[in-house]
Amino acid sequence: MLTKRLLTIAILGAAAIIGFVVYVTSPVEQAGVSNTLTPNDPSVVALGKQVYTQNCASCHGANLEGQANWRQRDPNGYLPAPPHDETGHTWHHPDAYLFVMTKYGIEKMIGKAYPNNMPAYEGKLTDEEIIAALSFIKSTWPKHIQQKHDAITAQSSQ
Ligand code: HEC
Repeated sequence: MLTKRLLTIAILGAAAIIGFVVYVTSPVEQAGVSNTLTPNDPSVVALGKQVYTQNCASCHGANLEGQANWRQRDPNGYLPAPPHDETGHTWHHPDAYLFVMTKYGIEKMIGKAYPNNMPAYEGKLTDEEIIAALSFIKSTWPKHIQQKHDAITAQSSQ
């Protein structure tokens, strides 16, 4: 169990690093489009809420509550969808990580096989829509969590 947990931590660590590399070299960055979340922009948040309801809520919950027992793998070894509210760990990850993961999926982000049920949205949603959905998610977090997340993002882009 402990080894599994350590492995997960190692995978997530690697994911963060590789995600950042993908981010730096991604077409989005080359095009100079910012992937900074804007939870205080009402029009972005309104679009994001719509995108979230239509594309994410079926798994992550209408109220961002995630699926039941989301920390436990199902009999096939898949993790359920985690909550996106402050009880989950979405806010532990910087903007770039969240964007890259949603656009390209986990396997492309970490560069190896990792069976999971999180879809990749490249070709299904525009970058603007992905950023809007993530901005909406951030807008629902309490202020102190938003501030912690600001710091995590600032630190990751130094
Ligand atoms: C078919 C179900 C499904 C849909 C639809 C879905 N997700 Fe997920 N998502 C998952 C699962 C399952 C995971 C956990 C994957 C794992 O770690 O094995 C996940 C993980 C994530 C994570 C990582 C969270 C963390 O704490 O590391 C983010 C961010 C995310 N999803 C964003 C989105 C967004 C944004 C949408 C809509 C545009 C979306 N997801 C739609 C199933 C889904």
